Amino acid sequence: MLRSRRSNLAVPGSSPKMLDKAKGLPADQVFMDIEDAVAPLAKPDARKNIVAALNEGGYEGKVRVVRVNDWTTQWTYADVVEVVEGAGANLDCIMLPKVQTADQVVALDLLLTQIEKSNGLEVGRIGIEAQIENALGLINIDAIAQASPRVETLIFGPADFMASINMKSLVVGEQPPGYDVGDAYHYILMRILMAARAYDKQAIDGPYLAIKDLDGYKRVAGRSAALGFDGKWVLHPDQVAAANEVFSPRQEDYDHAELILDAYDYYTSAAGGAKGAVMLGDEMIDEASRKMALVISAKGRAAGMARTTTFEPPSA
Ligand code: GLV
Ligand code: MG
Repeated sequence: MLRSRRSNLAVPGSSPKMLDKAKGLPADQVFMDIEDAVAPLAKPDARKNIVAALNEGGYEGKVRVVRVNDWTTQWTYADVVEVVEGAGANLDCIMLPKVQTADQVVALDLLLTQIEKSNGLEVGRIGIEAQIENALGLINIDAIAQASPRVETLIFGPADFMASINMKSLVVGEQPPGYDVGDAYHYILMRILMAARAYDKQAIDGPYLAIKDLDGYKRVAGRSAALGFDGKWVLHPDQVAAANEVFSPRQEDYDHAELILDAYDYYTSAAGGAKGAVMLGDEMIDEASRKMALVISAKGRAAGMARTTTFEPPSA
């Protein structure tokens, strides 16, 4: 079953206080950062703080992720070795930022396999989250998605991406004067989404940096949720509830999806008349309706939603 990742909380590994605070926040995923939120001189301590926090525990129910530095730096191998040797059993995924080629995912996969083998960890359990943050990464996204069975998510990194393609605006998700940036992001978001759906990965939208502007957050999150994205980063506790709400189906949509699944099951069965297209109330449902309902139902179930209606077969 797919792990719910509506809200992906970024926590700098340099801050034991924030690592601790993350335990009490209702985020679906917490990712502890050793990359861009941590200054070069603070990276060695960040690794140690993260190992200690993971081993201490308290993140139950959350996907536990560590973002290492990208392969063009000198830090990646030591990030991975220290964190996975130190806390591999208490860690779910490594996030690899600025992925540009499939080889970079393969390199991480090989390194993880070695560390797992030599430390008695289950081989292949730790997943990879690939952050797409530049033009080359986006162009290679299909190969990146398929580079290892460990890849679980494809993540948009809007800040680095805007820099990479020379985008004029400096505010993620906002419009520079005279141009509809909604359109500019659309291609990138859809490209990531197509790769995610083609290869059965989760599509995650990145940060919204104006952390005081909750309406702006909801608007930008609403856009990627409407397209089909599974979740978005949160940089501040206030954004957690917004992400959980925006990326969950509405209760009525979830109930309706479960109803369609039950009704369709019944009507296609011998007892229900083995029909392929039937009326559910005023709505015609068929196999394609079932597929749409499956998506909503999976998101609702993964988010722990409970249905409030049941399907009653018509009495003969
Ligand atoms: C996140 O890493 C970003 O660059 O937006
Ligand atoms: Mg980035």
